[in-house]
Amino acid sequence: MARRLTFAALVRLLMAAVFVHSLSPARAFVDAAGAQEKPHHLHLYMHEGDTGPNPSAVVVVNGTGPTVKGSGGHGRFGETLVMDDPLTEGPGPASRVLGRAQGFYVTATSAGAADPAVLLSMNVLLTGGIYNGSTLTVQGRNAVLLPVRELSVVGGTGRFRMARGYVLMKTASWHGGDAVLELDIFVHA
Ligand SMILES: *[C@@H]1O[C@H](CO)[C@@H](O)[C@H](O)[C@H]1NC(C)=O
Ligand SMILES: *[C@@H]1O[C@H](CO)[C@@H](O)[C@H](O)[C@H]1NC(C)=O
Repeated sequence: MARRLTFAALVRLLMAAVFVHSLSPARAFVDAAGAQEKPHHLHLYMHEGDTGPNPSAVVVVNGTGPTVKGSGGHGRFGETLVMDDPLTEGPGPASRVLGRAQGFYVTATSAGAADPAVLLSMNVLLTGGIYNGSTLTVQGRNAVLLPVRELSVVGGTGRFRMARGYVLMKTASWHGGDAVLELDIFVHA
């Protein structure tokens, strides 16, 4: 009995502590400031080509089984592609370069999947203006057939130290092994 009372008292104490904490003006101030803080918005195009004499993407591991639906005859389960793609201001190949997307894709759905997806993991290195030298680390599920894919920004460096956010990715154009992807990156840092 004494033990039960002690436990109940402990629960009451804990609840009181949580209540006081949620009322504390310092905490409220932090929450309000967090909510008002506007994210950085970066709009970039990522140019990927695994054809031609100077490809920006290379298959390093072959997949297995039949080609995954919607992969443009490319991806088989487990196929791994490493990329070092230019990031530009506009969709054209001659557009101003603002950074690079360096990382890899792994085809992470098996051949029968109705919703083919790759695991995308990459560092976005920015080379222009105030962001020069800063990076963002992006990771997520790229369900290639969806018109808009959402990926996570899991961290960053430099101007983006402690970053958190997300990327909305669209396919701007796609011909064989060459694709241009449109990225809208929203980050708090
Ligand atoms: C993957 O397999 C294809 C077809 O079997 C072959 O042409 C290609 O060279 C292989 N690539 C690698 C990286 O092993
Ligand atoms: C970015 O930083 C590098 C290395 O610090 C420097 O060489 C380059 O000129 C800078 N670029 C811009 C556009 O500021």
